[in-house]
Amino acid sequence: MDKLVVYGRKPLSGSVEINGAKNAVLPIMAAALLVDGKIKLNRVPDLRDTRTMIRLLDMMGVKTDFREHCLTMDASNVSSFEAPYDLVSTMRASFYVMGPLLGRFGEARVSLPGGCAWGPRPVDYHLKGFAKLGADVRLEKGYIIARAKKLKGDRIHFEIPSVGATGNIVMAAVLAEGTTQITNAAKEPHIVQLCEVLIAMGAQIEGIGTSVLKIHGVKSLDPVEATTIPDMIEAGTFLLAGATLGDITLNNVKASHLSIVLQKLDQAGCKIQVNDESISIEKCQELEAVDMTTDVHPGFPTDLQAQWVALMSVANGSSIITDTIYHDRFAHVPELVRLGANIFHENNVAVVRGVNGLKGARVMSTDIRASASLVIAALMAEGKSDISRIYHIDRGYEKIEEKFKSLGADISRESE
Ligand code: UD1
Repeated sequence: MDKLVVYGRKPLSGSVEINGAKNAVLPIMAAALLVDGKIKLNRVPDLRDTRTMIRLLDMMGVKTDFREHCLTMDASNVSSFEAPYDLVSTMRASFYVMGPLLGRFGEARVSLPGGCAWGPRPVDYHLKGFAKLGADVRLEKGYIIARAKKLKGDRIHFEIPSVGATGNIVMAAVLAEGTTQITNAAKEPHIVQLCEVLIAMGAQIEGIGTSVLKIHGVKSLDPVEATTIPDMIEAGTFLLAGATLGDITLNNVKASHLSIVLQKLDQAGCKIQVNDESISIEKCQELEAVDMTTDVHPGFPTDLQAQWVALMSVANGSSIITDTIYHDRFAHVPELVRLGANIFHENNVAVVRGVNGLKGARVMSTDIRASASLVIAALMAEGKSDISRIYHIDRGYEKIEEKFKSLGADISRESE
């Protein structure tokens, strides 16, 4: 197993290229199952999760070719409709294949995702949605088996605007008979991109980027070429590292996806410059504590909550950080405390009392974004930190240590 070794407090400077978004690429890869022909995707990040999705598609008989961030997928000869436990348990986003399989083939057998480091993450909205579209959905030996002769459009309402359920139901509905209306749909940029790519394939979707989506089913979809949007979570992670460590510029970013994060950094006293496709941040001399509550887009993303906690641990004053999306997503707190942070955590709230400085220590990754918060904290801490179990970080960040090294950080990957 690999670990990251960080000697902190090295100033950062220079520029870094942000990759395509993991959370946009994964559903679009699943959408390739909808088409009898080739889908070409550019700017695909080379991540463990992308590789897992490629393995899953390969197992289903999709022909894939992935090189230099360009991925082609041809689902003309799909031979299996199953997503096995081994893959779904390592990546919940595997569940995204269910909608396209049901929509095109009327059959899917997908392992039910189990627990997660963030607490319970049910898929009940997905399943109720498929049932509403006319599928027979049952659980057998840990697998969800869904079948439908032909899905039929209907009205579906989500209690919470779930990203995964929105993507999955949209992908099922594009080939259904008639119109599906989703209310309280997710508006995240990756859902917008999924809908745009589906439209480029010939789907008919109205209301993109709003909470009401209307999908008029079509008979078939066509091959397409698309370019992945920039990863706002990777960009946010680098921005938060730059807030105390350096003058850095992020290229290939979309500032509008990060408006609330930029606002919060501004409130904390950071100087930020936004250009066409780049954002620069200067090292902040006096970082002020700023409260933050996560919310669905355009609110502060839960995927940057852990990194915000890390940053606030060295701010002047106290901040209250609340996660309204995933109430148990605080596994990073005890690890940050090992680095000297002063954080009290109860239910879905963390109270962070800023300290003068963090001190290096051995810490452990527990999930993708918690690991990113540990990297930021270790870069800010005095002395050496070892971050173990970094396979988590490799799920969502491509060569994070090389990117930080290119900015001047003393960070390397070693085997444990
Ligand atoms: C996606 C992202 C993840 C991000 C999350 C919230 C991907 C691959 N993952 O996860 O990085 O943190 O959005 O922005 O894009 N819920 C239910 N029932 C369901 C589905 C969801 O109760 O059937 C609840 C969840 O428990 C959670 C909330 O809805 O409290 C939002 O979850 P959701 O948006 O579905 O997250 P994911 O799609 O799993």
